[in-house]
Amino acid sequence: MIAGCTPRLVEKLFREAGRAAGLPEGCVEVVNIREHCAYLHVDDPQLATQTAAALIEMGVARLSSTSLPRAHRGRVVQGALVIGSSVSGLTAALALANNGVSVTLVEQAARLGHAPFDPADQARAMLDERIETASHHPRIRTLLNAHVTEVAGRPGDYEVRVDDDDQSTTLGVGAIVVASDERPASLGTRRWFDRRYVITQAEFEAELEAGPTPRADEAPLQPQLHDIVMILCAEEPDGGRCSRLCCLAGIRQAMRARQIYPNANVTILFRDLYLGGSGDLHIDELEQARKLGVMFFRYRKDHPPTIGDKAVEVFDPLTGESLQVPFDRVVLSMPLEPPDHTRTLAALLHVPQDKYGFMIEPRVRLRPGRYADDGVYVLGGAHQPVDDVEALFQAYVTSSRVMRFLSQDAIRVETSIAEVNAAVCTGCGNCAPVCPTSAITLQKRDSVLSLAAVEALRCVGCGDCVVACPTKAIELPGWDDAAILAQISAALRAGDFDRSSHAPRIVVLACEWSAYAAADMVGARYRHNGDRRAGYSPGVRIIRMPCSARFDPNHILWAFLNGADGVFLGACPPGECHYGDGNLDARQRVEALKNQLANHGIDSNRLHLECLPGDDGEKFARAVTSFVETLRW
Ligand code: FES
Repeated sequence: MIAGCTPRLVEKLFREAGRAAGLPEGCVEVVNIREHCAYLHVDDPQLATQTAAALIEMGVARLSSTSLPRAHRGRVVQGALVIGSSVSGLTAALALANNGVSVTLVEQAARLGHAPFDPADQARAMLDERIETASHHPRIRTLLNAHVTEVAGRPGDYEVRVDDDDQSTTLGVGAIVVASDERPASLGTRRWFDRRYVITQAEFEAELEAGPTPRADEAPLQPQLHDIVMILCAEEPDGGRCSRLCCLAGIRQAMRARQIYPNANVTILFRDLYLGGSGDLHIDELEQARKLGVMFFRYRKDHPPTIGDKAVEVFDPLTGESLQVPFDRVVLSMPLEPPDHTRTLAALLHVPQDKYGFMIEPRVRLRPGRYADDGVYVLGGAHQPVDDVEALFQAYVTSSRVMRFLSQDAIRVETSIAEVNAAVCTGCGNCAPVCPTSAITLQKRDSVLSLAAVEALRCVGCGDCVVACPTKAIELPGWDDAAILAQISAALRAGDFDRSSHAPRIVVLACEWSAYAAADMVGARYRHNGDRRAGYSPGVRIIRMPCSARFDPNHILWAFLNGADGVFLGACPPGECHYGDGNLDARQRVEALKNQLANHGIDSNRLHLECLPGDDGEKFARAVTSFVETLRW
């Protein structure tokens, strides 16, 4: 057992050292006496020493009671699937193929090379060149008009079904790269716009592509538009997410409009002009647009432009006056969204989505670019709107990760894997639906009973099945009942609770990706920023859990029966659980338990579940402190 800084930083290192020294898997325990103790009690050495002793006692109890996980190995198929032929998808496919990996490139459209807006000349040339090379590359197989419809298997050995118009293809690949591009939202059925005059940026692009409409008498083409008003950030998604590509696309469209309709007034109404991560490159384009006569007016968020019959009214913050900008065409820049099939794909690959539908990196701060499964990678617009420079960067980073992953002869799984005790399993099937990676199947045992079977290399060790099993037939070595119960008992047995301050004894079960990480930040903030408001009661004992799905009502009852004044549960916010719906399952179980607590003579207010992000230590401290305050009353 190592008592030191947070296991989130050093556990892997010490486990590797333990393995190198010949210790069996799971024999190393790291107890956090830095962020959860020394940093917090920096002004009170005696309390710090008492707390450290209590945390160490809990660690010893856990380590001496846990069962050891077994190591698992599996083959790695030398092939990759790339979904989407955006510039990032094409670049990743080519990088992989050029390094000897067989790649299947799946595109839902009829041709390769999707981009949300018409790229600039240089970017267009780059895209065309990549399309050409990928189309003839001997190691790239292209499937057009195709969708992924099924994914089975595990990292390193996936079986993927791809359907196109005519047939179904089954592929064996070791890694899957999602690189589908974002698309601008449509105006849909918004009735308050006169669609004869109001169009989206995407529709305007198509209009510019087609050029001015010929007159009925077939006279030479004549400019038709006189007053074009472009409104950037016309519709902001909840939370004000910036789509990052629309401003530049709008400026480019404005310049093209000035060239196609030389007599037209082109006005851009903007809130903030975001010109991309490589902004300096695009400042020139802004200057160019101004020289071409494009007019720019800033508007304020609290005074958005209003579209009238003949003019757009906008409040000019510089003059403090309202302007009437006449139009015969209004172009709205709509937010960028992930493509339609993203929800299905995310479900098939067990990748969480954010509230806008983009796939999210659950471990972005510690392991950017990594997803729930090691063999699944997401980049480019599937992940968030990105410009070409970012798209290329992500494509090269991802392809190097994929190559590193595929270069292994076999995969060694080091995480805890659920194990089924066949003697106790009744085959009830409660476990299979909660498994976020479909690692559990029910197999026939005899004419009456089934038996749950875990595909070891697909199991991500969240513990949901363990809690769902009514007969306790599934165990998760490393996070097993015996270890957690021993830790809870030790937490409440430790005589070091500061009784003199009458601090309530609080057991915190903390998902390591949210509450535990946030608690780490509390300590760091307390120590480094000197923020003394950020601490929490000395009676709090935090127990790390793999996910809130592992919060077992029996463990909570055990804590109460052993003298806990309160049990605080910290889970990831809705939609951000690293294991799919683990936090939703936890909430359901906690609600059910709260209803039963009265039968045990326990006030249900002594149990609290809080969803909070892993990077908000302040929120964690506030939530725990206010919970402790309610218990004092
Ligand atoms: Fe945090 Fe599931 S990973 S609640």
